[in-house]
Amino acid sequence: MAQFYGNLMFKSSTTAVPATSAVPRHIAIIMDGNGRWATKRLLPRVAGHVKGVEAVRGVVEACVERGVEYLTLFAFSSENWRRPADEVSLLMRLFVTALEREVAKMHANNIRLKVVGDLSRFDAKLQDMIANAERRTAGNTRLTVTVCANYGGRWDIMQATGKMVKANPGITEFSEDMLAPHLAMAYAPEPDLFIRTGGEERISNFLLWQLAYAELHFTDTFWPDFTPKALDEAIGSYQERERRFGQTGAQVAKKTN
Ligand code: IPE
Ligand code: IPE
Ligand code: MG
Repeated sequence: MAQFYGNLMFKSSTTAVPATSAVPRHIAIIMDGNGRWATKRLLPRVAGHVKGVEAVRGVVEACVERGVEYLTLFAFSSENWRRPADEVSLLMRLFVTALEREVAKMHANNIRLKVVGDLSRFDAKLQDMIANAERRTAGNTRLTVTVCANYGGRWDIMQATGKMVKANPGITEFSEDMLAPHLAMAYAPEPDLFIRTGGEERISNFLLWQLAYAELHFTDTFWPDFTPKALDEAIGSYQERERRFGQTGAQVAKKTN
């Protein structure tokens, strides 16, 4: 959304300065720490992933209750194929069962499901399930849950670049506005709040383009222990920040008065 001062429209190098609100419209989460959660309890890593699915359920419900419009979850990165084959195949099976179990519930609660990433590497059955779940929930408006699967921020920028070039034959100069509609999450505003659980303070090739101005929140809590209360703490920390989008504090204060 553009902000106007007189007849001058201010645009940041990313997008127009967006309106901000007390509750973040879009929360993006790197759900990390499943393996360590399990190892700490002398359980196999997979137990942590199973428990992690339960944490997703709690956070989705909490987002609905708090009026968050978009929740984006990093479930499997393009680099996670490097893990041992049995862990990868278990994660795929978990994805299938979670879809089987949760989609009807999501639909009943007016939640739209999107899955973004390079889905071509998934087996045909999973691809079908994803397409069906997206189709079924496409008209829902309460909350959009995006699962990033075989997603990488660099992959996203590259696939968008390819589409942009194709859509503009013969053109050699491009702008951000021409690229943005081709990004995998073009249907959503950029994340207001980014959360990473599990103690690491890095982006791990998540939404590189879209996180340009997100507020970052890192917590040591392992993902399976991330409760709605922990989500509220992250939102509370977000509410204490002053989002300036390149402006001065005084300019920001003037706008909100
Ligand atoms: C995050 O937990 C889930 C996925 C990457 C699929 P991890 O599996 O990375 O857990 P840690 O970081 O090893 O504890
Ligand atoms: C990031 O976690 C990806 C997901 C949570 C899906 P990783 O555990 O794979 O990240 P690194 O390897 O610690 O950077
Ligand atoms: Mg990890």
